[in-house]
Amino acid sequence: MDWGMENRMSQFFQPDGHCFFLAVDHGYFQGPTSCLERPGETIKPLLPYCDAIFVTRGVLRSVVNPKQTKPILLRVSGGTSVIGKDLANEGITTSIEEIIRLNAMGVGISVFVGTDYEHESLINLSRLVNKCEDYGIPVMAVTAVGKDLGKQTVRYLALSCRIAAELGARIVKTYWCEDFDQIVDGCPVPVVMAGGPKCETELEVFEFVYDGMQKGAAGLTLGRNVWQNPHPVAMIRALQAIVHENYTPEKAGDLFNSIKHEQQG
Ligand code: 5RP
Repeated sequence: MDWGMENRMSQFFQPDGHCFFLAVDHGYFQGPTSCLERPGETIKPLLPYCDAIFVTRGVLRSVVNPKQTKPILLRVSGGTSVIGKDLANEGITTSIEEIIRLNAMGVGISVFVGTDYEHESLINLSRLVNKCEDYGIPVMAVTAVGKDLGKQTVRYLALSCRIAAELGARIVKTYWCEDFDQIVDGCPVPVVMAGGPKCETELEVFEFVYDGMQKGAAGLTLGRNVWQNPHPVAMIRALQAIVHENYTPEKAGDLFNSIKHEQQG
């Protein structure tokens, strides 16, 4: 691996080989998402506990302090909205010059396998990889499922992840599902898990994250289950402990409760 690429990848992945990216990119197609209306305020207390933030250039420029040193994973696909015709019809939104100017450590782009825009999104990924590899910038492919979240099988997610890796993604983000090891086993690059809509209980989140990590996930690109929780700092610290300290869901639950009470008290 080229020095620049290796250096950027090591800023994302800690010496244990694991990572926790805080996802705050949701506004690029959802608008002012609940608890992310003022992303600067949402991010601030959580920054110390993540390994990078996944964010668009608009939010980065307007509310993230350029003097902070957390690596930036830049969301560079978009062009659709939740009220538009088809969420899958994304393009590349950000030039390579802008990616470099913003000092992004990596970039993220969605692919929509099995949709009417499968071909376009996979070619967009390939084009982005071609550009970014020239500069040693890793590309993370997001296996997006649009409005169909929950209907995807391990077979579908494993297929999407493998295709994204074959086209040159250095990291692949997908959703947790049963038999997550089948996704990891079939994918030659690190697989990170997204969270999806907020779960009913904290324990549910801790359980799927722990299960995915035991089955070979490299870490998380998680958003709503952190910052939509009434205790986001307790949540991110408990999740960080699962990712980097191999905490069980029960131990993470205890940590969550102790930080929550400490903050209330
Ligand atoms: C939105 C994304 C998000 O970054 C990703 O889904 C992670 O966030 P969450 O845990 O809230 O699902 O790619 O398109």
